[in-house]
Amino acid sequence: MTIDLSMTVNGVARRITTDPRLTLTEVLREEMLLTGTKEGCGVGECGTCVVLADGKPVTSCLVLAGDADGANIETVEGLAADGELTEVQQAFVNTGAFQCGFCTPAMVLTTTAIFRENDHPDIEDVKQALGGILCRCGAYPKILEAVIEVKGDGA
Ligand code: FES
Ligand code: FES
Repeated sequence: MTIDLSMTVNGVARRITTDPRLTLTEVLREEMLLTGTKEGCGVGECGTCVVLADGKPVTSCLVLAGDADGANIETVEGLAADGELTEVQQAFVNTGAFQCGFCTPAMVLTTTAIFRENDHPDIEDVKQALGGILCRCGAYPKILEAVIEVKGDGA
């Protein structure tokens, strides 16, 4: 059995026929070859699979692809335009906010969603929002430095 799905992925309308048992992570990585989305635990605990669905961070390993039918999905591949990093991506680079980089797509996408809603977020709210993404390298201090750089007020 297969299902037909339509979704917008990084601004491009996509139609695929796929196995209804696949998760959104699997469809993005295996069918669309968007491997920037990382699968850590596969059971909703590590947050490394976060993508934006209709602008909101979601753990894509917990979303059946069929439930994303019609959604506007953004992955890390969709952020930079014409070779230009976004302000959030550039801040991560400037501050060295990663080591192995496995959590980085989820951290960058979640930070992007935060700043789209509020260009001056409270740092405690940012910690709360990023807290669901596990960084096995312990890069949190640098990640917060990147957030503070985007905020632009040193706090
Ligand atoms: Fe989705 Fe861990 S891979 S939460
Ligand atoms: Fe390695 Fe975060 S930089 S998991």
